[in-house]
Amino acid sequence: MKILVLGSGGREHALVWKIKQSPLAEQVFCSPGNAGIAQECECFKGDPVEIARQVGADFVVVGPDGMLADGVVDRLNEAGFLAFGPTQSAARLESSKIWTKNLLQKYGVPTAKFATFDSATDAKAYLHAQDEGAFVVKADGLAVGKGVVVAATKNEAIAGVDEVLGIASQTVQGDAGRVLIEEMMSGPEVSFFALCDGQNLLPLIEVQDHKRAFDGDLGPNTGGMGCYSPVPFWSPELREQVIETILKPTLEGLKSDGVEYRGVLYCGLMLTEDGPKVIEYNARFGDPECQILMTLCESDIVPALLACAGSPDYSVTDIELSWRDEAALLVVLAASGYPASPRRDDPIIGLESVSDALVFHAGTRAADGKILTAGGRVLGVLGIGANFAQARQKTYEAVSHIHFEGAHFRSDIGKLAMTESE
Ligand code: AMP
Ligand code: GLY
Repeated sequence: MKILVLGSGGREHALVWKIKQSPLAEQVFCSPGNAGIAQECECFKGDPVEIARQVGADFVVVGPDGMLADGVVDRLNEAGFLAFGPTQSAARLESSKIWTKNLLQKYGVPTAKFATFDSATDAKAYLHAQDEGAFVVKADGLAVGKGVVVAATKNEAIAGVDEVLGIASQTVQGDAGRVLIEEMMSGPEVSFFALCDGQNLLPLIEVQDHKRAFDGDLGPNTGGMGCYSPVPFWSPELREQVIETILKPTLEGLKSDGVEYRGVLYCGLMLTEDGPKVIEYNARFGDPECQILMTLCESDIVPALLACAGSPDYSVTDIELSWRDEAALLVVLAASGYPASPRRDDPIIGLESVSDALVFHAGTRAADGKILTAGGRVLGVLGIGANFAQARQKTYEAVSHIHFEGAHFRSDIGKLAMTESE
């Protein structure tokens, strides 16, 4: 079959790479893609539905949250294409934090206590009336990883209301005027992924992301600077607990509210003293977490994606995915100035000297036979090894071969995990 992948990040590079290995994939296409994806398959620019028609796609896999929130799956379905990913209405699980918090509360899914407000004035008045303490202030809507203030004091939280609304007003999606105030939870964070066909879950595995720009989890939040799996503090018991107390009730809640959720359930978890709780849901694969999932997954992923999209030929309940019994670790090479104002158009050198690691392209473009930087997160370098130490060694060895002006990366991805897993 002909499969079209939509998106241009490292996540989509990993999806193309994995899908190409499937015996079901006769041809793979991507739109818009990047320089690395263009080395794997033909890439097109333009309207997704038009491109699906042009290439005669039998199946379309949607990567990015923005496209899902824009309703690309609805448009593809209306045009008769089978597409992987939630509809616009179901993608509210990510695009509206308030909608999701209300759903979780209604169905008893563990999450931070919260209150919602339609105006900054109401949100501030609420905070003024609270005892001194820590709060988390969030704008509703997709705010590309921003739009959240974790405030240690009441005054910081009050100032945070204007801050998150200021950020939200500059982003295009969501109800930018609404505010969510949450109790502060504490504990380690981890992400867990499942695929869903609207009725059934196909749990994947856990991944540890590092969102802060600099070593020691310092600096501004980013889309993710590195990640790895397995996670040392994770366990089969915890996995079972998350599936039973969080994912299943979320899916049952969605069904009861008439939402047919098809696609990725990406659950951001905090492991609190009272057990795992939901920080947020995303409606797509994480980036760079997807790169880890696709490399550690031993099975053909295409039947699972087809089953979730509603293909009559495959069923989630008949699919069992197997996973490599190894560790994978990815480090992001970011452009100078990322996340605030990434520098662009610098030549990337040394890619050909990487031998024992995978390189997934994100913000890259090809010009005059060269590969240039073209975005904040430029490349993701991924090593696989029998244990953390090996995976980490391979990753950083490969990173040392790649250069571009102002490149920065975290040198501590997996450092703690390596000691904990020994
Ligand atoms: P979100 O965009 O909702 O995932 O929030 C971004 C980050 O803020 C999370 O990865 C957490 O580190 C932090 N965070 C969000 N909500 C809470 C909460 N209720 N308690 C503590 N930290 C939180
Ligand atoms: N790496 C975090 C995300 O994809 O949202």
